Amino acid sequence: MGTYTFGPVAMDDSFIYTFFPLLAVIAVILYLKSKENAKVTTERAATVPYSLWDPNRKKTDNKTISPTSLPQDPVITPLRDANILSTSPYPFRPYKPVSRMTMGIEKCDPNDLFLLDSSYPARIALRKDLTIRYPNTLGASLQSTGAVKELYTFIFHHMSSRFPELFAINPTDSIFNNYVSGETYPLHPPGNSLVALKAIASTVEEDVLVLMQNPGEDVYRLQAFAGCFPNGFAWSEKMGMALSEIHGPVPLFKEKLEFSVDRFFGKLEMGRWVKRFNWTVAIHDQLCSLVANHIYQGVEFPEKLESVKLDGCYLRVERQVLLRLPVSKAIVFFIKTYMTPLNVVKAEGQGEALATAIEGMPDKLAIYKGRNIWGEAVVSALRS
Ligand code: HEM
Repeated sequence: MGTYTFGPVAMDDSFIYTFFPLLAVIAVILYLKSKENAKVTTERAATVPYSLWDPNRKKTDNKTISPTSLPQDPVITPLRDANILSTSPYPFRPYKPVSRMTMGIEKCDPNDLFLLDSSYPARIALRKDLTIRYPNTLGASLQSTGAVKELYTFIFHHMSSRFPELFAINPTDSIFNNYVSGETYPLHPPGNSLVALKAIASTVEEDVLVLMQNPGEDVYRLQAFAGCFPNGFAWSEKMGMALSEIHGPVPLFKEKLEFSVDRFFGKLEMGRWVKRFNWTVAIHDQLCSLVANHIYQGVEFPEKLESVKLDGCYLRVERQVLLRLPVSKAIVFFIKTYMTPLNVVKAEGQGEALATAIEGMPDKLAIYKGRNIWGEAVVSALRS
């Protein structure tokens, strides 16, 4: 019988023949257990009640999640407003006399995740049509399967809790009813993420982006999306990218925002919902804009406009909401796009304020937003 020495420890054959097989068995058990846990997480994500997203829920509640024991939806106040679909979109005017590249994060009341208004019926019809005609409006990595299921359940519960007259869950048939579009969807998320994302795209007006960390990485990457209204790019081209890469074409992002955005994503707590705004001027009315609206470095400038008609130009505002899903821990980014003709902005008495804001953009950002093309003509029309 041989004896081996490992540093100060001496072992004989019989120990080695018992110890290493035992170690291998433990490793296999741990591996199987971790696979099982991943499966349970995915299944639980699909069935958890809405109250998991209660922003007032204490951190410790995480440990005792039971899909059946939690009370339904304690924070969301039902909005029973018969006129909601005849209300004009909220006039967000987020521009400032001088823009700075800042995070611009504000707290978002969970009741205000989705702001329904008169644009809703036409927008969701357009989104459904776009997902049918252009399959690359939807995308999902394998890694995002559990998060997409969780998101699907979350959105249906949220919509029916907040707008009970427009959306309802029928627990007997396990069906989500959208009374506005007449569509119904099974409450249990479909196995195919693209089917789930198509239902999401046809239910909410917002583009919905799911960001997750790859194992062993700190940065967040785009892992799934339902993106029908991109502002000058294709969401499919951003798939798999980290936030720094997604924002590659955005001037000043690297210098001014990248570090803060990455840190913010790493620290975003569940239950802390936030919102921010982007704005630009568009010289067309296309919500789904794959190429226009931005001038990328190295691309030839289109010709400068001598004059514009304000009713053909738009203030394009994005209201963005960020939150973390409780089970998958994915971060979801919702973008609702508002398009207001500039003659309306001017009629509100905002002509001078917008003209000043256009002039007050940092030069590099202004070039990216195409100010060289429309800037002078739009500013002069707003002031005339
Ligand atoms: C706190 C978080 C974020 C900040 C501060 C931020 C900031 C910005 C800014 C300043 C721009 C320039 C556009 C403009 O001002 O109109 C921009 C563009 C953009 N952002 Fe973000 N962003 C954030 C999160 C995200 C997330 C989560 C995504 C997507 C998953 C995203 C996707 C984009 C895209 C696709 C563009 C346009 C890039 C292009 O032109 O190719 N952003 N963002």
